[in-house]
Amino acid sequence: MLELGRLEDLPPEYRQTLTEQNLVPLWPSLRSVLPPRKPMPATRPTQWRYDALRPLLLQAGELTPIEKAERRVLVLANPGHGLEKMQASSSIYLGMQLLLPGEIAPAHRHTPNAVRMIVEGEGAYTTVDGERCEMQRGDLILTPTGLWHEHGHDGKDPVIWLDVLDLPLMYYLEASYVIEGTPQPVTAQQGERAYLRGGITPSPMFRRSERRYPMLRYPWAEVRAALLALQDADPSIEAVQVAYVNPETGGDAENVLGFSALMLRPGETLALPVRSPAAVFHLIEGAAEVGIAGQAFTLQAADTCCAPGYSPVTLKNSAQNQPAFLFIADESPLHRKLGVYEVFPDGL
Ligand SMILES: [Fe+2]
Repeated sequence: MLELGRLEDLPPEYRQTLTEQNLVPLWPSLRSVLPPRKPMPATRPTQWRYDALRPLLLQAGELTPIEKAERRVLVLANPGHGLEKMQASSSIYLGMQLLLPGEIAPAHRHTPNAVRMIVEGEGAYTTVDGERCEMQRGDLILTPTGLWHEHGHDGKDPVIWLDVLDLPLMYYLEASYVIEGTPQPVTAQQGERAYLRGGITPSPMFRRSERRYPMLRYPWAEVRAALLALQDADPSIEAVQVAYVNPETGGDAENVLGFSALMLRPGETLALPVRSPAAVFHLIEGAAEVGIAGQAFTLQAADTCCAPGYSPVTLKNSAQNQPAFLFIADESPLHRKLGVYEVFPDGL
């Protein structure tokens, strides 16, 4: 590739005049905005250990009352983007949130889409769009764009969950904002109970639900059972993995980020295909070794790591006697909608 002219090759007075007119020469920056052959992600392979962040999050509970935090969160920030940007990848935000017994995180709705992956504790709930969703370890709860949601806690011990949002994307689009609300009455039935069995949906009087988000809570007990059943049904299956989908349409559960759960069989090593979207891996149960572009991370329960797009990722379960269960969030729906989704079966 030809080497292009640099900024300093231009006369200072010419550059000054360009600046005064809000003009910029393209060629000194062309190779960085359009790098040859593959992107140069700022997203760095990064791990956040739960045993390191948990005491700090509990300390935040002592230092900052919920009224002064609204959402008491430590953000899992990727140093490749700069910690102040509060993003795990270009489009994924991760935050570990603490709610103490008796606390309420007040109702609001916002443009970014969110999900919660419950990490520990009993007795908390999220009310989303009038539906009360209990929060138990491993449950996935959607709070999609525009839906009212609030959190409460009737239990005895701290409750902690992982928030996954498309906040960096919405912020970049200058489309991020919130509206505060009043406590919601519980008005809706629990959607997950209506969609508990695969392959069938409610159809009273031949009508199908027209709710954009008919299912808001995906109980871990069901997802775990589905993974075990999938393995039983086809022991030679390439990967024991399921996607969280909208049960009415079969499409992605949310618009921007995609979610799946994966069971690593005892002793299994999986080389994931190199794909364009960045991804986040959160360990629900067991232990796993994650290799990302030559870097190795060991995930214990509740640990989280992220991988930039266009990178090889391997997942390994060294234990010979127990499976490992991972929750995966990635930017696949966004890349597919934008027409930039790519898979590189032979690597890059
Ligand atoms: Fe929120």
